[in-house]
Amino acid sequence: MNYPQTLAPKIAQIEQASSALGFVASCDLQVANFCAVLVAGLGAKRVLELGTGTGLSTLFMAEALAEGAQLVSVDVDADCSAVAAQAITDARVQFEVADAGGFLKTCQPNCFDFIFADAWPGKFSHLDAALNALAPNGLYVIDDLLPQDNWPKNHQPRVDALLAALEAMDGVALSYLDWASGVAIVTKLDEQPIAPEIRQHAEYAFLFSETMPSDI
Ligand SMILES: C[S@@+](CC[C@H](N)C(=O)[O-])C[C@H]1O[C@@H](n2cnc3c(N)ncnc32)[C@H](O)[C@@H]1O
Repeated sequence: MNYPQTLAPKIAQIEQASSALGFVASCDLQVANFCAVLVAGLGAKRVLELGTGTGLSTLFMAEALAEGAQLVSVDVDADCSAVAAQAITDARVQFEVADAGGFLKTCQPNCFDFIFADAWPGKFSHLDAALNALAPNGLYVIDDLLPQDNWPKNHQPRVDALLAALEAMDGVALSYLDWASGVAIVTKLDEQPIAPEIRQHAEYAFLFSETMPSDI
């Protein structure tokens, strides 16, 4: 299966609609394809995307879903979500227009075996809720860890703290790929992966907060 080739007409549709909407934050095609391969390889049954955008990464992951699997994709922006929903009409895909942090707080423990984190919540806030929603041995993929044009000033220390906090957790394993837009893959080894000293560490506290900083 060559996902980019198979999906080319839909990719073009999404790109056209994104440009009409003025949406410029679509996922890197290589990263979308990478997620699709991981979803297929894992045989993921419950997939969560935080940050639908206009659906480029959703499109790839939807194509990789096993029979009977489900993908929930969350974005706070109704216009973006509508573009995605128009392009992706697979009944296994559910679009939620909601704040991803609020959504994560409603999730049952261990309920997703693949999470693609492509919005602020679940990455630089609500990290505990995201890891709580991830099933043991599931995969949690975090995007945009290499400098991006739209990064606010002084964002690099947040990225460094996120990677350092994950590396310090005995209950997860992490591989960071200095590739494409910068991707980390995390798997959960323990049901409770966050030790109290990590949660209380002053430099990591923002990762467990429920608020976004004012420069975002
Ligand atoms: C990098 S883009 C996602 C790109 C998308 N995965 C794609 O391939 O097109 C980040 C998205 O996060 C959404 N977003 C920002 N804050 C959010 C929040 N608090 N909850 C949910 N989505 C949010 C934005 O509306 C934007 O669509």
